[in-house]
Amino acid sequence: MTLDTTRLNRERNFFATGQTLWLFGYGSLIWKAEFPFHERRPAHIEGWARRFWQGSHDHRGTPEAPGRVATLIESPGAICQGMAYRIDAEVLGPLDVREKNGYLRERVTLHFAEGDHAEGLIYLATADNAAFLGAAPLDEMAHQIAAAHGPSGANRDYLLHLADALEELGAEDRHVFGLAARVRGITEA
Ligand code: SIN
Repeated sequence: MTLDTTRLNRERNFFATGQTLWLFGYGSLIWKAEFPFHERRPAHIEGWARRFWQGSHDHRGTPEAPGRVATLIESPGAICQGMAYRIDAEVLGPLDVREKNGYLRERVTLHFAEGDHAEGLIYLATADNAAFLGAAPLDEMAHQIAAAHGPSGANRDYLLHLADALEELGAEDRHVFGLAARVRGITEA
């Protein structure tokens, strides 16, 4: 797969045009919702774990020194908490560009905090995309994140904004909170 998934995503139309659809954000889409939406609701998805295993060459790093950003890894029994947005389908065009470094639109079932559920979309970066970095020890990932910068800013800020947003949601996430504590330790030392 190429480093630009924009064209592939244009063909991944899982929902009828002319209707609104639910988008589930689990990374920057939680705390950086710079797109129009009709409503937003805390939600979770089941069977997925959030991991900083995706490389960022375009936002939070560079091709020479990629940062690390969130993707989801299939993990039976896991719960990933985030934010659901009800959007117009046209909003996906600009989101495809924002998420172009390896993320593909995928269908998921969203479970809202109030107990109801709906079909929706996530942007998912799987292990076969060119920017995927995969697992590494937390300390190693923390040093990479503490050092990386890209056109959208410091990789550290992406992680710490996400950790703050998850805390506000009352979400459990040992991976994100563990990384955030390490990065704070490195950059505040
Ligand atoms: C998401 O936030 O749902 C996708 C990954 C990202 O943009 O950080």
